[in-house]
Amino acid sequence: MGEKQRWIGHYSSSHKILLVGEGDFSFSACLARAFRSATKMVATTIESEDTLLKEHWSSEAHVDELQRRGCLVLHEVDVYDMDQHPTLMFVKFDIIVFNFPHAGHDYWLCERNNELIRRHRGLLEAFFRSASGMLGEGGEIHVSHRDDYPYDKWKLKELAKKAGLVLKEKVWFEKSDYPGYHQKRGGGIESNKTFPLKECYTFKFSLKHETSVLDSEEATSKLQRKLEELHLPQHKTLIRPNHIHVPESEGTKFTFGSFGAADFVSGPETDKSSHIVSFLFYQIFAYWHTVTAYIYFLH
Ligand SMILES: C[S@@+](CC[C@H](N)C(=O)[O-])C[C@H]1O[C@@H](n2cnc3c(N)ncnc32)[C@H](O)[C@@H]1O
Repeated sequence: MGEKQRWIGHYSSSHKILLVGEGDFSFSACLARAFRSATKMVATTIESEDTLLKEHWSSEAHVDELQRRGCLVLHEVDVYDMDQHPTLMFVKFDIIVFNFPHAGHDYWLCERNNELIRRHRGLLEAFFRSASGMLGEGGEIHVSHRDDYPYDKWKLKELAKKAGLVLKEKVWFEKSDYPGYHQKRGGGIESNKTFPLKECYTFKFSLKHETSVLDSEEATSKLQRKLEELHLPQHKTLIRPNHIHVPESEGTKFTFGSFGAADFVSGPETDKSSHIVSFLFYQIFAYWHTVTAYIYFLH
């Protein structure tokens, strides 16, 4: 029998997860504890083992715990070229996580400084580019990030778009969902200190071509549910993304582009309520047809 699937936040023990830019590894250790066994996880930091211990003394216990639970811990993994890393280059992940990316501190640069913002954007752009090539089918990239000024100036969505990614969801980052996690400053100056989280979110990105299929499926299932709510006979319509199948016997009742009342009143069901239902159905159908045609032309 397979191992029981365990969840914490957005993450499950069955996901193949890559964590990059970990501070003291407290986030990955928290996931590993929740999963009990973390054999599908790879947790990484850009620092060497020695530097990490100097900058994040609290990392030692977390790294021990990760390794005890079967997580692969890697040092000196730079998001700029992680897709070329000998251990990672042939692996595809379900989720790649970068919590609170930051390009490093300079005493003379505050977070509002344009030069520093440019560096942060460079880091994220490189991360999105390399991470997007490491995603398996349906994979997601999660970036937790403050979205108040000046952090909103990084324009995550715009950077992700350059790597063919789209924002799938933006959800409030709730630190209390991750017991034992401490967000660390990193960046070489007072690295092991925490920083205020304020308005922070987890931005979930996925590859654009996959998302459009998902969106279409989602929209279709919504439409299908709406139709079910209208109590239409099940055998009449089966709707799939971008395809509308109508049984032969029903096919003669209408033509594409003409959805006038005359088209739907001439059927075997002649009572008033079924006409109203049919009218609603054809209105939804017409709307759906227009939307799909519109999307098609936009692409
Ligand atoms: C604000 S800290 C957040 C640390 C950790 N993710 C957390 O949530 O506690 C930013 C982290 O980004 C990492 N970082 C900066 N540049 C990086 C790069 N090129 N590749 C990988 N990590 C990087 C730093 O080492 C630092 O640990």
